Amino acid sequence: MKAPNFLFEHALLVEDFSKQTLEARRSHVPSRLLDAMLYSLLAGGKRVRPALVLTCYEACGGQNLQTVIPAAASIECMHTYSLIHDDLPCMDDDDFRRGKPTCHKQFDEETAVLAADALQALSFELLADLDADAYTRLALIKDMALAAGCQGMVGGQMMDILAENQRVDNVLQVERIHLHKTGELLRWSCEAGAKLANASDEQFQACSRFGKAVGLLFQIADDILDATATSEALGKSAGKDEAQNKATYVSVLGVTKARELAGELCEIALQACEPMQGEAGHQLKSLATYILKRGQ
Ligand code: IPE
Ligand code: IPE
Ligand code: MG
Ligand code: MG
Ligand code: MG
Repeated sequence: MKAPNFLFEHALLVEDFSKQTLEARRSHVPSRLLDAMLYSLLAGGKRVRPALVLTCYEACGGQNLQTVIPAAASIECMHTYSLIHDDLPCMDDDDFRRGKPTCHKQFDEETAVLAADALQALSFELLADLDADAYTRLALIKDMALAAGCQGMVGGQMMDILAENQRVDNVLQVERIHLHKTGELLRWSCEAGAKLANASDEQFQACSRFGKAVGLLFQIADDILDATATSEALGKSAGKDEAQNKATYVSVLGVTKARELAGELCEIALQACEPMQGEAGHQLKSLATYILKRGQ
């Protein structure tokens, strides 16, 4: 399915900002490290997480999109770090990502590990420098630490590795893995957009419910695509989950049931953004539908 146009527009804003931020350090950072960071960051991801930050911000009445771009870039740095590590030989051992050789293939393992580490640190730096009051910045930094760390993405990655070859047949176990390894960063994206817009409680809760639903939906779609799409279409190696005996929605439920469940989660996401007014409310709905349709 074709991505909605605003996804490209938001992606350009975030990519320009990220490139400038990194290039500005070239004189005092080892070039090889900077090149590896830029290589992976600008390799052409879908930029769904930055779009969620920017669109939730606007859906909650935020008026100054420029001030939120660093927060959108921050989550893309965190996500890109997670992908570089996810692809390492000791993790999923993948050679292709975003249509190009993975960071450790293009450079080497040492450089890939360090580029990912530096992207993680940069993610927090960008939040600390946001044009927002100190309380909001601290809240976003703390929540990013929770969403990305042992209680969030990294914890989920550990669960994912431990579940390999375990013949997992419990869908709740897979849900737990997915909510952590993928869902938390998407939830953060939606809640961060709401916080930066000084959302009302009702708006914040709507963004939070939306983020939780699309977070799980996103990884279910990823599981379905791994089993059904080509490597060319994905820009990364397909069929890896089965080959590595991963615990996924497809391995536990099969493709048809996984698709049904994805449809139900999309409905929950669409209901969650019902209170959101205006163009941004529509955009949130089209993002959820885009994520669903990718896997259908
Ligand atoms: C891939 O994320 C890893 C998952 C959490 C499923 P994306 O599908 O968002 O990857 P990019 O950013 O578009 O490359
Ligand atoms: C990765 O899940 C989630 C991350 C935290 C990066 P996958 O291992 O399924 O992601 P892909 O399929 O390699 O993109
Ligand atoms: Mg993985
Ligand atoms: Mg992987
Ligand atoms: Mg996958």
